[in-house]
Amino acid sequence: MEFYHVSVLLKQSVENLVWKQDGIYVDGTVGGAGHSLEILKTLNSGGKLIGIDRDLTALKAAQEKLKNYKDRLLLIHSNFSNLKQVLEDNGIKKVDGVLLDIGVSSPQLDDAERGFSYNNDAPLDMRMDMTSELTAKEIINTYSENELSKIIYEYGEERWAKRIASFIVKEREKNKIITTGQLVEIIKNAIPASARREGPHPAKRTFQAIRIAVNRELDEITEAIPNIVDVLNPNGRVCIITFHSLEDRIVKDEFKRLANPCTCPPEFPVCICNNKPEINILTRKPILPDEDEIRENPRSRSAKLRVAQKL
Ligand SMILES: C[S@@+](CC[C@H](N)C(=O)[O-])C[C@H]1O[C@@H](n2cnc3c(N)ncnc32)[C@H](O)[C@@H]1O
Ligand SMILES: [Zn+2]
Repeated sequence: MEFYHVSVLLKQSVENLVWKQDGIYVDGTVGGAGHSLEILKTLNSGGKLIGIDRDLTALKAAQEKLKNYKDRLLLIHSNFSNLKQVLEDNGIKKVDGVLLDIGVSSPQLDDAERGFSYNNDAPLDMRMDMTSELTAKEIINTYSENELSKIIYEYGEERWAKRIASFIVKEREKNKIITTGQLVEIIKNAIPASARREGPHPAKRTFQAIRIAVNRELDEITEAIPNIVDVLNPNGRVCIITFHSLEDRIVKDEFKRLANPCTCPPEFPVCICNNKPEINILTRKPILPDEDEIRENPRSRSAKLRVAQKL
């Protein structure tokens, strides 16, 4: 299968990321390698790119796509939250910029067999990294009703979470839930018909929630940001593209915390906590795709890019 993914906010993110053409950069989410290719084109012969992805199929395709640049490129199978370890293993101390374009790639969504999509009947999987253990099937069949309800409510922002969790547990007492089709049916039965008539596909929120849980998506971002900032050279950039409000809130809050870490009460005349700012936020408001981009690639609609610079 051809690995095809339309890169989102491509120009804006690479322009913000690469401030030094002979620097060392990290693309923490190589995916279809669109951003990686643009970064490599922007660098001169002194520059280097470390590309990370937890999906081996993405890395394999990236190797082919980026073959003209193989002297300046290192591709690594890992999670971007392991950035420090990845750099250490490769004898690199500091880098000049890190890009994360978080979320699923089009091939992950479109390859029915991977179980990300509620539009195709497939095994309940949803792992970005197919070498990791936890699958959607495991979560759906073994987590308690309470845990399921919490996941669906918090990660899916689904108001019918409690009912959906209860319907899942009732069904699995009779039959093991092993396909996306079974899960879609359960969700449809759990959400009252009147609430299903409008809005997106009734399974959209629950599928997003389970996917986030399978891949620990929010924890990955929370853990990654301070580590990224630690490994940046002075003036180094961190650029993060997110696709839903839960992710964007984490990026926004973590950037704020690192830009303004003083924990002293406001009435203190001077700072005594001695927490020093580590970054300067370059995007007060996130950068959004323009109308042309949204028209050409509807998946870009919810994208937001935030950029910060290491002090
Ligand atoms: C939206 S795609 C990236 C697309 C890419 N920027 C492009 O231009 O083609 C996201 C990719 O990040 C990977 N990914 C998501 N979370 C990850 C994590 N925590 N660590 C490593 N890779 C991750 C996914 O496997 C997927 O391939
Ligand atoms: Zn203070």
